Amino acid sequence: MGPTVVAADAPALLEVRGLRAGYGQIEVLHGVDVTVRAGTVVALLGPNGAGKSTLLKAVSGQVKPTGGCVHLGGRHVNGTPPHRLARIGLCTIPEGRGVFPNLTVRENLLMDTYSGSRAADIEAHAFERFPRLGERRHQLAGTMSGGEQQMLAMARALATDPALLLLDELSMGLAPLVVESLYEIVGHIAAEGVSILVIEQFARTVLDVAHVAAIMSHGRIETVGTPAQIEAELSSAYLGVNP
Ligand SMILES: Nc1ncnc2c1ncn2[C@@H]1O[C@H](COP(=O)(O)OP(=O)(O)OP(=O)(O)O)[C@@H](O)[C@H]1O
Ligand SMILES: [Mg+2]
Repeated sequence: MGPTVVAADAPALLEVRGLRAGYGQIEVLHGVDVTVRAGTVVALLGPNGAGKSTLLKAVSGQVKPTGGCVHLGGRHVNGTPPHRLARIGLCTIPEGRGVFPNLTVRENLLMDTYSGSRAADIEAHAFERFPRLGERRHQLAGTMSGGEQQMLAMARALATDPALLLLDELSMGLAPLVVESLYEIVGHIAAEGVSILVIEQFARTVLDVAHVAAIMSHGRIETVGTPAQIEAELSSAYLGVNP
C-alpha cells in the first residue's frame, strides 16, 4: 500500500523554522526546518544521536527551544506546555512505547482523554480498529507483546482525536513483519486525515506510507526529498549499517 495522494499545496499544519534546542549548555538542534502539510506523513530518518527525539521533544513542549520557531496550525507555540498542545491537537507517542505497564489495556485507553469523548466511544473505536486490544482489554499492558503495546500506544493517541501525531521509533525492538503491520495502520490513520511526523533510525518500511522524507544527522536536516529519493540516498550512504 502506498501513501494516499494529497495536494502538494495543502496548508502547513506544523512549521518548524531554524529550531535550536539542547540540554543545558549543549546544543543538539542547530537550526532545523521541517514542514508537515495537512494530511501528509513526513518521515525523518537518521542515525543514533542525530537529535530526532530532541526535535520531537522540542515540538511537543518537553524541551524548550533556544532559537527558531514552532508553528502549529498557524499559531506560534514555542514554550507552550504539552497539555495545552494536546488540547490543540498534538499527540506524541514517545520512544519506547507510551503505555503504562501496570495498568490494563482498558485503563490505559481511558486515562487521559482530553477530547471529552465518552469512555464507551473511545473503547468502541479502539477495539474496532485494533480487535486484538479488545480481546485483551483486561490484560496488564506490560505483559503484552511489543507490537501489541505499540497498538495500544496508537489507540491511546487516537482517543485524543489528534490533528498531528508525532511518532518516535515505532519499530524499536520489533520484528520486521510486526513493524510492517504497524506502518500499515499508520497509513490508514493518515488516510483518515491525521497528519503524521514519524522518526526512525533506518526502518525503511516507514517510506512506504510517507509523502515526504528527510535525513537528519548531527542536529541538522541533511536532505529532504521524496521517499524514493531518500531510499536511494540511504542505500548509497548507509549501505551495510542496517541492511
Ligand atoms: N536528557 C538529556 N540530557 C542530556 N543530553 C541528552 C538528553 N537527551 C538526549 N541527549 C543528547 O542529545 C543528543 C541527541 O539525542 P536524541 O535522543 O535526540 O537522538 P536520536 O536521534 O533520537 O537518537 P536515537 O536514534 O538513538 O534515538 C545525543 O547526543 C544525546 O546524548
Ligand atoms: Mg531517539
